[in-house]
Amino acid sequence: MSGRRVAYVNGRFVRHADAAVHIEDRGYQFADGVYEVWAVFGGRLADAPGHFARLRRSLGELRIAEPMGEAALKIVLAETLRRNRIVDGLLYLQVNRGVAPRDHAFPDPGVKPSVIVTARAIDLAAGEAKAALGVAVISTPENRWGRCDIKTVGLLPNVLAKQAAREAGAVEAWFVDELGLVTEGASSNAWIVDADGVLRTRDIQANILRGVTRQSVLRLIGEAGLALDERPFTIAEAKAAREAFITGAGSLVLPVVRIDGAAVGDGAPGPVAKRLRTFYMAEARRLAA
Ligand SMILES: Cc1ncc(COP(=O)(O)O)c(C=O)c1O
Repeated sequence: MSGRRVAYVNGRFVRHADAAVHIEDRGYQFADGVYEVWAVFGGRLADAPGHFARLRRSLGELRIAEPMGEAALKIVLAETLRRNRIVDGLLYLQVNRGVAPRDHAFPDPGVKPSVIVTARAIDLAAGEAKAALGVAVISTPENRWGRCDIKTVGLLPNVLAKQAAREAGAVEAWFVDELGLVTEGASSNAWIVDADGVLRTRDIQANILRGVTRQSVLRLIGEAGLALDERPFTIAEAKAAREAFITGAGSLVLPVVRIDGAAVGDGAPGPVAKRLRTFYMAEARRLAA
């Protein structure tokens, strides 16, 4: 299987095993680039418009030129899925400022952004089994820069937090700011159903990524008429909550059953998280493009 994997690298499809970028690519030298990840259902992109809009915004905030128009990019993405025979999976796009002699300030405007795309299949049944059991999270002090709204490839704090989670037998780490409030996960947004039955997640004025899955789930919550408050919560509130869950292109809607070792609710996935996962999956499939 891996022998047939193909990656898109700067205009060419190459064997995944041979895919490489230049050592002076600024993504490699400075983490000077952005990325997007789409869930793929039935060979089509989930929440496509939201991810394209965020990509444009991330590039704009960093003043990296759009490497190609959206129509062309869609063709590259679809072709990557096709060549890798992806039905259900994850699609990864990275756009860096390009290759130039190492110098912190921006290179010549003529330097072309670099683009890579990879895709891999995911086992939906395994994802469902994981969701049925729920996952554990740990908390960790927020130590990221002030522009977490930009989806940059500079992810070292997230890497360290995720590794700490893994070593603790958890799948995600929730960052906690200096006021004791949860910002988000290392690769997901954080939610609870609080002790009063109200859905809570941090508002996007804060220094967090504007999760595309989060936005879709907010819409579903509105349609279902569930009580919602976009307000941050503490770890103590999360431990005392009825339910907790995370959202993201990788996790979709994933129930959280333990926080720092303490059971949330009765220690099993809660009804609201399970319902939102079912709704989200159905809608994401229906709207996949
Ligand atoms: C830090 C962080 N927060 C939140 C998310 C969720 O965003 P999305 O739903 O757009 O995948 C991600 C991405 O996976 C992330 O890396």
